Formats: sequence, C-alpha cells, structure tokens
Amino acid sequence: MKLSIALIASALSSASAFTTVNNGPRFITELNMRQPIMAGNWKMNPATEADALNLANGFCALLNEMQGACAIDSDNPDCTEVVLFPPFPFISKVKDIVQKNGIDVGAQGVYYEDKGAFTCSVAASMVKSVGCEYVLCGHSERRALFSDSDVNINSKVKKVLEFGMKPILCVGETQDEYDLGITQEVCAMQVSKDLAGVSKKDMKDVVIAYEPVWAIGTGLVCDADAANEVHKFIRTVLAKMYDDEVAQSTRIQYGGSVTPESVDGLMAMSDIDGCLVGGASLFADKFARIVNFD
Ligand code: 13P
Repeated sequence: MKLSIALIASALSSASAFTTVNNGPRFITELNMRQPIMAGNWKMNPATEADALNLANGFCALLNEMQGACAIDSDNPDCTEVVLFPPFPFISKVKDIVQKNGIDVGAQGVYYEDKGAFTCSVAASMVKSVGCEYVLCGHSERRALFSDSDVNINSKVKKVLEFGMKPILCVGETQDEYDLGITQEVCAMQVSKDLAGVSKKDMKDVVIAYEPVWAIGTGLVCDADAANEVHKFIRTVLAKMYDDEVAQSTRIQYGGSVTPESVDGLMAMSDIDGCLVGGASLFADKFARIVNFD
C-alpha cells in the first residue's frame, strides 16, 4: 500500500503561541470507546535538569490557563490521558511537577533482565519504583541505532507488564519499506512478534504507536486518512491474534512529526486514539495545544 505524504511546514517558531478554543471537556470516548492518549517523548532532551523542570512547569502553567479546555486526567476515562517520557535522570522531579495536573510519566525504555551486571541498563523495577506508569518499547530509534530485535522487544513488553506497567509498543515501516509498498507486512510482523505470548487479559494495558520511520523528525507527516488505514489494518492483526474485542479496545497512537497544525486532522480519524509526539513535545505551547486537540 502506498501512503500519500503531506509536507508539513516544520519552521514553527519556538516562541509562537497557539490559541486554544474553549469548547469545554470533550467526551471522545462516546465516539470510539477508547480513551484518547497523548504522549510526549522527550528522547535525549533537554540538556539539563533545570531545562527539563522549566519545560514541565511551562507545560503545566499553560494547561492551568486553559480552563474549560479538554479535561486531562489519566484516571478518568472521559478525559484525555497525557503521559510524558523524560530522560531517566529527570523522571522523578518531572513527575512531582506534572502529577498535580493529572499527567503520568513513563520511561523511554527498560532492559528485560531484572538486575545484575548490565552496565548502562535500567530495570523495570527501577522505573516502576519512581512512579512510571508507561514504558516505550520498540521505538524505531532503539531498533535502528541500538539493535533492539523483535525478540528483545517482546521480552521487554512482557517485563513491563510483569511489573504492572503499560508498554507503548512502537511499530512502523522505514522509508525503504514504504517505497516497496510493504507497510502492512512490516506492521503485522512487528505486532505479532513483539506481542507474542502476551495474554488477552494483559492487552488492556498495551498501547500501540504506529510511527512510520520516514515521518519521525522529518517534518513529513503521514496523511491522516492513510495513517487511519494502517491503524485499521493493525486492528485486523489484533483480531487474528486475539479477537474483535481486543482489536476494538486497544488504543493505537500515531507518531511522526505531529504538530499543532496536524493534530486535529489526525485525531478526527476513527481509529487514531492519540499521538506520540517527539520534537513538538519539547515546546510547552505546542504540546499544550496538541493535548488540547479539537
Ligand atoms: P517527532 O514528533 O519528532 O517526529 O518524533 C516522533 C517520535 O519518534 C515519537 O516517539
């Protein structure tokens, strides 16, 4: 399947302000029965703890100003769930700041072993103990730059679940795979290998993020209709692995150059339940507008 690509203007000024329409809380769950989940993956940013806390404080201050805008509360299914993924050293202090706003924190990854001589690795128990609710698994940067295999990703997904946290499993095709027209095959293979052995019961805690690799950090965002088709396809894979209930209840985010300009179109799609945002989540005003999608 070929996806059409829309070039999104990436030259957004960091100082730009986005107005938010005050529409009152939106009950997206009435539409599709899935709680929207918006996540900010800070990757290896910002450079210092002070910068990270500034970003978290700035984001919360903007949300507090947006009275009556989209209600954010991870524990209330009628509200949008928001999760931040800071680098490991900043997780605890960022959580202290954002939890008052009903925002969760997560870890950008864990190792699948419990403890031991694994220099530079972080265990699931560690991130659980500092309050992480979610863990990213299978991000394309880990697959490409750190040789994370589907076997290892599967072990990590299961380890995250074992420790009572929720994996966000990232899948998606590279530019070459997109050019070959094998998006569906790649997504089906990754979903089936990375979720192998995960029970139907545990699937309620699994979120999938469809992140076409060619759209990550490039300013190219997958056309909303085309992304929606991939999300629908992923649901057919889940239906075969599990059943229709799992296929329809699993939340699937889109990730790849999401901006305040593209979020509303993406979130209007029937099978897109949220966004996993990289670059734009490093700007408090952009991310505040994104989580307050219309
Ligand atoms: P960008 O939003 O910077 O393209 O990053 C997407 C991503 O990789 C989120 O995990």
